[in-house]
Amino acid sequence: MYPRPMALATLVAALGISSETALAGNVSAGKQIATDRSRGNCIACHYLPGGQSPGNIGPALVGIQSRYPTKESLMAQIYDATVANPETIMPPFGRHQILSDRELEDVVEYIWSL
Ligand code: HEC
Repeated sequence: MYPRPMALATLVAALGISSETALAGNVSAGKQIATDRSRGNCIACHYLPGGQSPGNIGPALVGIQSRYPTKESLMAQIYDATVANPETIMPPFGRHQILSDRELEDVVEYIWSL
């Protein structure tokens, strides 16, 4: 356990994310999950740099920091995309426990780096 910024505590409360989540994930683990067809499979819908056969259903995940001011806001989108858009076809990866908190954290770190 280590201290976390207040914004994360607020996010944790709002989304029910485990208090173990600290938004200090691992970029290469996140890339693995995002491009793995049997896990995150973000690549099915999103262009990811260097990923094989990306889909174009969602926006290309590049220059992400110009659209998400904080990792917490990016986490919120990936945790439950239906909050921003109830009609979205993007699965709510956190709310439906498709990915674990640890996996979400890694994916956020990777997408944040793009
Ligand atoms: C079934 C298709 C699908 C999958 C799988 C999917 N997404 Fe999405 N995603 C979308 C769509 C469509 C949007 C556009 C926004 C909306 O629908 O509300 C979106 C939007 C986003 C956005 C916002 C982008 C922006 O420019 O505002 C992020 C970030 C994102 N997705 C990340 C992910 C990550 C990370 C994964 C994998 C863990 C993932 N998505 C998996 C369809 C998908």
